[in-house]
Amino acid sequence: MLVLGIETTCDETAAAVIERAPDGSGRILSNIVRSQIEEHARFGGVVPEIAARAHVDLLDGIIASAMKEAGVGYRQLSAVAAAAGPGLIGGVIVGLTTAKAIAMVHDTPLVAVNHLEAHALTPRLTDGIDFPYCLFLASGGHTQIVAVTGVGQYVRLGTTVDDAIGEAFDKVAKMLSLPYPGGPEVERAAAGGDPTRFDFPRPMLGRPDANFSLSGLKTAVRTEASRLAELTPQDISDLCASFQAAVLESTADRLSVGLRLFRERFGAPRALVAAGGVAANQAIRGALQEVAAKAQTTLIIPPPALCTDNGAMIAWAGAERLALGLTDTMEAQPRARWLLDANATAPAGYGNSRAGY
Ligand code: KG4
Ligand code: ZN
Repeated sequence: MLVLGIETTCDETAAAVIERAPDGSGRILSNIVRSQIEEHARFGGVVPEIAARAHVDLLDGIIASAMKEAGVGYRQLSAVAAAAGPGLIGGVIVGLTTAKAIAMVHDTPLVAVNHLEAHALTPRLTDGIDFPYCLFLASGGHTQIVAVTGVGQYVRLGTTVDDAIGEAFDKVAKMLSLPYPGGPEVERAAAGGDPTRFDFPRPMLGRPDANFSLSGLKTAVRTEASRLAELTPQDISDLCASFQAAVLESTADRLSVGLRLFRERFGAPRALVAAGGVAANQAIRGALQEVAAKAQTTLIIPPPALCTDNGAMIAWAGAERLALGLTDTMEAQPRARWLLDANATAPAGYGNSRAGY
């Protein structure tokens, strides 16, 4: 099975070709990602209209490169898959429409992939693991704990009631005048800081559900930063270290609860899998390792290039769906919001426009 995957839901324009063998194993033939960070950096965040325009400009060339690098012709494709949401709608329209055009011209099946499902299925491509497993997805737009029990079978065990973790890192960076994207900057600054100088709140600690909340913590950082007024480099490092320490403690607690809920409903998970840009944070990785060890499961973190948004994960999810006969028609709609778990209801306090799904 040869599948072309297209990803345009946020600020990465990406295309990839993967091969799926009959035994269910996968191989990446090409995986091209063009980050738009430079286009958005001077605005301190992703500007949806600029992203959509950039996807239009870049996508054709990136698809052509992905096909060329894979040495595959359009007629050989078993399917073309595109992320049909959730995400910034302008970009989603660009990717899905392009996939439809390719599918129509070459008479190839179309798979409209949920971007979150693609993150969820990635460890099956990278590590060949079996269901069920527990996914911790933490990026700029999502913070979720999900039980993955089969292709298309996802139960959300926890989500954020306000900001996503990556979003909180980005906002803290911005208030401390660190560049965008903030996550790596905050991690770097935190390395030289005192994590005990500021006693920030540990959101949701000890709660019986597995939900996250980041906005109160973010506000606490803002309050301290404005109280100090003139921030020295040491102040910035200490604020970052104290913020990161609070995120770590809260995340570890939320995940322990999530894994306990998993066990109660689905038995022992085969692994705890982390995905999303936040999983690049070394301190968070350390915390995840401890949580997994305590819960007597193994931690799997796909390589960074497959943790963050990419085309291979979309192609792989497309192949997994195609293998089950799950293809889509030309009526497939681009979706700004698309719950992975159709039965999930909004947690109390829900209301943030980006992170709640
Ligand atoms: O998965 P991703 O590349 O894109 C999406 O948001 O979909 O994740 C990007 C997010 C940003 O919010 C970024 O600040 C955060 O992941 N991030 C980090 C680190 N590297 C990236 N957060 C904390 N520590 C990091 N080292
Ligand atoms: Zn993503």
